[in-house]
Amino acid sequence: MAAPTPPPPPKTVLRVAAISGSLRRASANTGLIRAAAEICRESIPGLQIDHVDISQLPLLNTDLEAGGGFPPAVEAFRDRVRAADCFLFASPEYNYSISGPLKNALDWGSRPPNCWADRAAAMLSASGSTGGSRSQYHIRQVGVFLDIHFINKPEVFTKAHLPPRKFDADGNLIDSETKEQVRNMLLSLQEFSLRLQGKSKQGN
Ligand SMILES: Cc1cc2nc3c(=O)[nH]c(=O)nc-3n(C[C@H](O)[C@H](O)[C@H](O)COP(=O)(O)O)c2cc1C
Repeated sequence: MAAPTPPPPPKTVLRVAAISGSLRRASANTGLIRAAAEICRESIPGLQIDHVDISQLPLLNTDLEAGGGFPPAVEAFRDRVRAADCFLFASPEYNYSISGPLKNALDWGSRPPNCWADRAAAMLSASGSTGGSRSQYHIRQVGVFLDIHFINKPEVFTKAHLPPRKFDADGNLIDSETKEQVRNMLLSLQEFSLRLQGKSKQGN
């Protein structure tokens, strides 16, 4: 029997700006972003992950805009947000809410003109007992004002510290079930983002 014909390459490649809310070297959330990037490279040809590091952003202080612009690190960050077709946030829950670094990044991107508007987004979280659900719902709430359109399903809450072991000592995702959940979420993000842009996978 002849081998099945591979699907044609996608006409539309979506750039996903992926932001981790944890600055830790061995962060599980940054590990989720690395896993998402690998999944896209291997099996989702129309989606390209661009990991946007937020560790160099200063703490938000509007005095830093005094000259009419933004500090260079903020300007570079805003450029990468603007260039994205959609967003992927991976963030721990800190005290039932968003991590400080992620909120800082969301706030810098929101300064006029708002860089986040009218794009699709999805969320991952690796956290304690609830897997970060409370932080995700706060990110959604902030996204209302920023005009970010989140996919509703699937939701992925990763209980990073409960068995089975999901991350190695460097924060790399090693759990196949979580990888499958991340993959399904990426497919949903791709589908929704294309729909929002009025496109289909094969272009139109
Ligand atoms: C300041 C602080 C507050 C935290 N609060 C919560 C919390 O409210 N709920 C939770 O599930 N985990 C909480 N955690 C645990 C982290 O979410 C968890 O360790 C997570 O894996 C850290 O993400 P990272 O590995 O990407 O750094 C907290 C951790 C810190 C440092």
